[in-house]
Amino acid sequence: MSEPLVLGIETSCDETGIGIVRGHTLLADTVASSVDLHARFGGVVPEVASRAHLEAMTPTIERALKTAGVSLDDLDAIAVTAGPGLAGTLMVGVAAAKAYALALGKPLYGVNHLAAHVAVDQLEHGPLPKPCVSLLVSGGHSSLLLVPDVATDVRSLGSTVDDAAGEAFDKVARMLDLGFPGGPIIDRTARAGDPAAITFPRGKLDDGTYDFSFSGLKSAVARWVEAKERAGEPVPIADVAASFQEAVVDVLTRKAVAVCKAHDVDHLQIGGGVAANSRLREMAKQRCDKAGIRLRVPRPGLCTDNGAMVAALGAELVSSGVADSRLDLPADSSLPVTTVRV
Ligand code: KG4
Ligand code: ZN
Repeated sequence: MSEPLVLGIETSCDETGIGIVRGHTLLADTVASSVDLHARFGGVVPEVASRAHLEAMTPTIERALKTAGVSLDDLDAIAVTAGPGLAGTLMVGVAAAKAYALALGKPLYGVNHLAAHVAVDQLEHGPLPKPCVSLLVSGGHSSLLLVPDVATDVRSLGSTVDDAAGEAFDKVARMLDLGFPGGPIIDRTARAGDPAAITFPRGKLDDGTYDFSFSGLKSAVARWVEAKERAGEPVPIADVAASFQEAVVDVLTRKAVAVCKAHDVDHLQIGGGVAANSRLREMAKQRCDKAGIRLRVPRPGLCTDNGAMVAALGAELVSSGVADSRLDLPADSSLPVTTVRV
């Protein structure tokens, strides 16, 4: 089967994402987000998100099928995020996927959310070079991966030792009373600020590892803002946002380029919600151009959580001849990045 038609279900956090792909071609990408329900809590409330997934599942699947112009019977496989993510929300997606697979007699693929963030790039830029390096930056993860083959071989070279990059954006936005989720708001706010206004620390920059640390940076921002407030001076929000963002992006791009050089890989792929960040995209392009590395970043809508990424990885697994999952596959909230298919 060269161009499998696959439906993907994503429920690892607060987005009910349904995607339909044929091979590397995107046919439908429908997302129902419960983010508005969580905004007043300043973070995702798992039980609220699970309930929202349950309500959104069937209508979102129907919408995706209509957009793609296909029926459930046409599908070659169902793919679903089996982890990592919130245990309760994952379970809603996995249960739905099992029900569809069993009722339709279609193969089921439980897939890794992080590998799906890498695989989605194929919908926009065609087959991933083998190998490529992937910088995966989301609300829950910040990792540098060596990806010889996204369907079968994903290796972790480094990851965050504390906060994820997106988590740092969200926490700093909360500190500055900017709202939730913080990433897109900081991105916008930073455009009016000076990234060189304040020199915030770059954690683990030259420590010889490919790990990240953002909690020291977060504390440094908090201390800087508190000192201003104590002195009765206005806090230059845009400058703080821009300087904080610069510190995050500087470390991410420097380490990503260093990994490519060390492993002699000339393609860098960036995925996950933080890959939507305009400054990250800009600095990555500059540094990759300088180092002779080809950069691949999907459009922002495919960087944040969606079902197309799950369908894309599912299609890759089918095309690569990887066996389907068992119908009793578990949802695993801490699924390691190296397990592509459960
Ligand atoms: O991949 P994703 O949608 O969900 C997870 O798997 O975590 O990533 C969500 C994270 C949030 O922390 C959000 O603030 C961040 O991605 N994010 C951004 C931007 N858009 C989303 N961070 C920085 N700049 C953005 N433009
Ligand atoms: Zn994600």
